[in-house]
Amino acid sequence: MSDPALEVVEFLLTANLYTENRELDENDLPPRYRRVFWTDPPDDDDEDDNDETAPIGIERPLVVTDNIARKATGVERPWEAVSGLMFTQREDFSGRISLTQPDMAVDWFLERADHERLSTNPTVAAAVEGRDDVDVTHAEAREQTRSIQADRVWIDSLLDQYFDEEEDAEMLDLVQVRAPEEIEMTLTDLVLTQDQEGEIQKLMKAIEHREYLADIGLREIGKILFVGPPGTGKTTVSRALAHELGLPFVEVKLSMITSQYLGETAKNVEKTFEVAKRLSPCILFIDEFDSVAKTRRSDEHAALKRAVNTLLKSIDDISLIRDEVILIGATNHPDQLDAAAWRRFDEIVNFPKPDRQMRSDILRIITKRMDVAEFDPDSVAERTEGLTGSDLRMVLREAVLEALTEERMSLTQEDILDAVEDFEERDNLKNMDMMSDGEQLVAGDGGGESGDGHSHDHAHDD
Ligand SMILES: Nc1ncnc2c1ncn2[C@@H]1O[C@H](COP(=O)(O)OP(=O)(O)OP(=O)(O)O)[C@@H](O)[C@H]1O
Ligand SMILES: [Mg+2]
Repeated sequence: MSDPALEVVEFLLTANLYTENRELDENDLPPRYRRVFWTDPPDDDDEDDNDETAPIGIERPLVVTDNIARKATGVERPWEAVSGLMFTQREDFSGRISLTQPDMAVDWFLERADHERLSTNPTVAAAVEGRDDVDVTHAEAREQTRSIQADRVWIDSLLDQYFDEEEDAEMLDLVQVRAPEEIEMTLTDLVLTQDQEGEIQKLMKAIEHREYLADIGLREIGKILFVGPPGTGKTTVSRALAHELGLPFVEVKLSMITSQYLGETAKNVEKTFEVAKRLSPCILFIDEFDSVAKTRRSDEHAALKRAVNTLLKSIDDISLIRDEVILIGATNHPDQLDAAAWRRFDEIVNFPKPDRQMRSDILRIITKRMDVAEFDPDSVAERTEGLTGSDLRMVLREAVLEALTEERMSLTQEDILDAVEDFEERDNLKNMDMMSDGEQLVAGDGGGESGDGHSHDHAHDD
């Protein structure tokens, strides 16, 4: 880590300046500081109070103690680190650490802080902008700093505020919310088709220019359906998009609707969309979209039909332009989607199984940090017709584990080809298994699709 004194002085200075300057808001604090000053807002039971201001979780004055400074800076003994400086003090009774002469602290800090440090601290940048020895503006620093709506603390406190822990427990099972900082795979880790890349570009442009689109009366954007077999990257691309755009990712599996809590289902659908609206701007990802069509076809429970209609209506009612929610649906079974569902999406993106060139590129990405002797991705790609990105990951994992049983931490091309062969054998077994029981791990055509999503996720999330 860098100089502990510098870390602690920056923190003290930021707390001091933020407290003094009322024009600053929490987006002026570096994310690592916001976290420690965050206090959950008091429970607000009045669910109908629809004022647009989300809860403000950081209140002035920002008081620094040893403990708080440790959490924010990672410095083990914060007071010791700065006690020798002329402009710091600690109150014995409260343990509060503060600056006696903030101006002196500013000078001390500017002498030591590099451009990078200053340009990621909007609070300090606001105070020193325009000085001769400063080449960063407040606006630039704001630009560089992630907005608080993408922070875990913000998301959690919104959810806490809006949901009753007991009453909505089942609801919270249904929806998973990820902060963009928690998403590991990025777009650069994925091999996309030209079509996919084009659609992603369009979507990003649409988000950037949404006001213009609204002005010219183009409102049918921001609802996209990803179509393709299991393991082709639909979920991963959606999450990577959230990461790229710095937006919270709200994920719901529609199959959950058909399984549990029938009576509550319509309400849960509404709440899902409500979560998305509360967290907006965000991405709402609805997985296993095909389960809608199936339930519409069979004459199931009336409650279920109501739920499905609620879903379709909720999709109609949500908008990128008005609500700042991007809706992405995903399905493995486009053939089972009826017109009512198709009609709701304004773009369809195909996720085919990767062709030879894509497989080769995917292999290169998967093995990026592995040591493989005589590695020839092209010839592996040649041998793996019909395998998806997810399958290829599984193949490589097997090859690695296999080598580990021989105490080897490096692979050979041979290991990988053996693993391909094993994979294909296993795949055959699974297809046979489908005729009897159905606990298969990889989809053939036909049943068991909800299981597929899970097994792929588990196989690769580690
Ligand atoms: N085009 C690709 N490029 C790189 N990796 C890929 C690609 N497609 C799939 N993968 C890998 O496979 C894993 C599983 O993909 P993902 O879960 O996104 O598939 P999916 O289409 O959502 O499948 P399902 O329909 O079963 O939900 C990803 O984490 C990724 O590592
Ligand atoms: Mg998926």
